Amino acid sequence: MRAGLPLMIRFLTIATIIPFFSVGLRSGSPGVPCKEGQKRALLMFKSDLKDPSNRLSSWTSDGDCCNWTGVVCDHLTGHVRELRLTNPNSHQDIHESFGDNYYSNTWLGRMVNPSLLHLKHLKYLDSSYNKFQGLQIPSFFGSLKTLRYLNISEAGFQGLIPPQLGNLTNLRYLGLRDDTLKAEKLVWISGLPHLKHLDMSFVNLSKASNWLRPVNMLPSLVVLRMVICQLDHIPLILPAINFTLLSILDLSENRYNSLMLRWAFSLANLVSLSLKGCDFQGSVSTHPSTNTTTSLKGTDLSLDKLCELIHLDLSHNEPS
Ligand SMILES: *[C@@H]1O[C@H](CO)[C@@H](O)[C@H](O)[C@H]1NC(C)=O
Ligand SMILES: *[C@@H]1O[C@H](CO)[C@@H](O)[C@H](O)[C@H]1NC(C)=O
Ligand SMILES: *[C@@H]1O[C@H](CO)[C@@H](O)[C@H](O)[C@H]1NC(C)=O
Ligand SMILES: *[C@@H]1O[C@H](CO)[C@@H](O)[C@H](O)[C@H]1NC(C)=O
Ligand SMILES: *[C@@H]1O[C@H](CO)[C@@H](O)[C@H](O)[C@H]1NC(C)=O
Ligand SMILES: *[C@@H]1O[C@H](CO)[C@@H](O)[C@H](O)[C@H]1NC(C)=O
Repeated sequence: MRAGLPLMIRFLTIATIIPFFSVGLRSGSPGVPCKEGQKRALLMFKSDLKDPSNRLSSWTSDGDCCNWTGVVCDHLTGHVRELRLTNPNSHQDIHESFGDNYYSNTWLGRMVNPSLLHLKHLKYLDSSYNKFQGLQIPSFFGSLKTLRYLNISEAGFQGLIPPQLGNLTNLRYLGLRDDTLKAEKLVWISGLPHLKHLDMSFVNLSKASNWLRPVNMLPSLVVLRMVICQLDHIPLILPAINFTLLSILDLSENRYNSLMLRWAFSLANLVSLSLKGCDFQGSVSTHPSTNTTTSLKGTDLSLDKLCELIHLDLSHNEPS
């Protein structure tokens, strides 16, 4: 065949150029270049985004996507493993900074293309402090099965949290902190047996009266933050405590207006407990070694089991 030889030469040329190229592009960190299908998926994802500061300017069709801003690949396989797209100019006190400089102009927003589903090895997705205003959290996020870390705190998503997130059975970290979100049931949470860190602060949970039950089904939970969630129901007594590893519990600024919850004081691994501004009534005497004594109205509660407690904040509850 006449075409055979040139084809072979072309093949040989490409084969010798590719490794040379990828070593050059990776600035001394050799690895497999990104997969063509995953690169296309990322370009589709980008095409639906608004990116006023052109943060994703390195995302071009001629580059190696493993070398793009915010993209981390597995060095051995070339699969996209992480998308680190948090707003680099976010500040913790953004609630005070609404206005023209809202998140500076380095946010991403508008639409989330389902092409993300082509990233079959994605373990880490951080899109916190962006501006997907008016958009619901896409329910297809629940199909990103390989995720171990999902952070869409302060990303501007709105409305009901889709229960499909309960399909992310590999999840370790879940950040959903945003006052534009709400949830009516939290049953889906119990589908996340490996979850270690849950932040749902500011989410309107006023209708999720039974929230503690599914949360108590998370045996791996270490950090739970539900600050200003408009929670007004909290069981005083739990029949059995499943989340025995819990070490940081922050339920500040919810108006329980009830007696101090007893179960929190039997969490042996607790090191930080914040119940600031919760309108709890009751009296708490602390273990001597913690050097804190807080006195609230009502029954006596002993904190003897909290030997490890290093932070206790019960301020702004009912005065004695
Ligand atoms: C991509 O690699 C080149 C060459 O090592 C480097 O100069 C460039 O900064 C990289 N681009 C990004 C976005 O990391
Ligand atoms: C995902 O979750 C939804 C709602 O909880 C459920 O109806 C659906 O069957 C789940 N899908 C898969 C693939 O597990
Ligand atoms: C989510 O991202 C924010 C901002 O980077 C960070 O403060 C927070 O700890 C993260 N949440 C989780 C659950 O990792
Ligand atoms: C929270 O949700 C409830 C019920 O959906 C609603 O009545 C209430 O106004 C919401 N609170 C805020 C601060 O938006
Ligand atoms: C403890 O967790 C297991 C599995 O997650 C669940 O089946 C059980 O009902 C939970 N117990 C309580 C008291 O919530
Ligand atoms: C601990 O308690 C002692 C005795 O009441 C007091 O003198 C000391 O200032 C306290 N230490 C701290 C760090 O509050």
